[in-house]
Amino acid sequence: MKKDTLLTHAGRTSPYFSGSVNPPVYHVSTVTFPTMAAMADAQGDHLNSFYYGRIGTPTTMAFEEAVAAAEGGERTIALPSGLAAIAATLTAFTAPGDHILVSDGVYGPTRTFCQDILKKNGVAVEYFHPLAGENIAPLFKPNTRLVFCESPGSLTFEMQDIPAIAAVAHAKGALVAADCTWASPVFFRPFEKGIDISIQAATKYIVGHSDAMLGTVTTSAELYPQIKTTAVKYGYSVGAEEAYLGLRGLRSLGARMKQHQENGLAVARWLQGRPEVAHVLHPGLPDDPGHPVFARDFLGASSLFGVILEPYPEEAMVQMIDSLKLFSLGFSWGGFESLIMYTTPGIVRTTVLWNADGPTLRLHVGLEDPEDLIADLEAGFERLNAFIY
Ligand SMILES: Cc1ncc(COP(=O)(O)O)c(C=O)c1O
Repeated sequence: MKKDTLLTHAGRTSPYFSGSVNPPVYHVSTVTFPTMAAMADAQGDHLNSFYYGRIGTPTTMAFEEAVAAAEGGERTIALPSGLAAIAATLTAFTAPGDHILVSDGVYGPTRTFCQDILKKNGVAVEYFHPLAGENIAPLFKPNTRLVFCESPGSLTFEMQDIPAIAAVAHAKGALVAADCTWASPVFFRPFEKGIDISIQAATKYIVGHSDAMLGTVTTSAELYPQIKTTAVKYGYSVGAEEAYLGLRGLRSLGARMKQHQENGLAVARWLQGRPEVAHVLHPGLPDDPGHPVFARDFLGASSLFGVILEPYPEEAMVQMIDSLKLFSLGFSWGGFESLIMYTTPGIVRTTVLWNADGPTLRLHVGLEDPEDLIADLEAGFERLNAFIY
């Protein structure tokens, strides 16, 4: 089945739906049973059954089934946020005394979790250069259990050679987990590229409307019990409304991603031609250093990318951003609306120095008409230049 067909049909097989196209929103904590035997059966089949609201409901299960199909994995667990999905993965697949390798390009709070929680749990965390590829090999130790990737990197957008990293990791007996949120399940097939555990901050493109927090971890049937039982022990639980919104977002994900890609590239290309811009960090652009890896491994580009401005003073950049009408200031991305943010990647990198001379911005291009977005940025640049001249 092609991806768009799959996104339309996956997760609609549950007998609980009575033929409705969408699942009911199950607001439930207590599930009751007619007999003690039925209760024991449900609890005995704890990876699949519906026996207590915290463990999962028919709504969360429908969402999980659909995400597993979209990601090309065997099982998915829904978690209350993208960060919860990252934290559950990092704790489920490590133990005290283990060593893990984490890309230096990961999302800031992933690093904070490693520094403040994993290390306290006795796990040694080492950061590797995002462009290491097969050169990651010398960093492995006999106790290296997991490699954590994110491609392209948060804020800096470097493309990782995931198949090369995965080949080394598997030869050394380690698992590969990756935050695959940027491409969404539409533009990247994690399990065909050597990833064992794929994470989505479903809050972003999957939900797609900036109105719910949600995360997913997708993996094989073999590894799934490890993540599921860890999440259950922590008490992680996903609200029925959130699961419903995630599933609803998934239905239009294919169409939205195509438009995000087109709009993002239109704005990125226009920015490349502007004298105020030193560099556009977008692996979908043919002259981006990560483009060959992007073209080999990805099926398309999302609409989140970086822009390094010429060395304007920070106050000028602030004036520009504050003047924008269509790009709102916001920490998130992946919704239908355009967003902009001032970023400081240098303070969250350890293996490489981030030497941008000018201010660095992150843009999320929404589903507005790109001509309007370009006009908004053009007016913003006028404001930027007015500050100087
Ligand atoms: C790449 C990436 N991964 C994970 C997350 C965390 O997702 P959530 O905000 O749902 O916890 C974010 C949030 O910005 C992100 O940008």
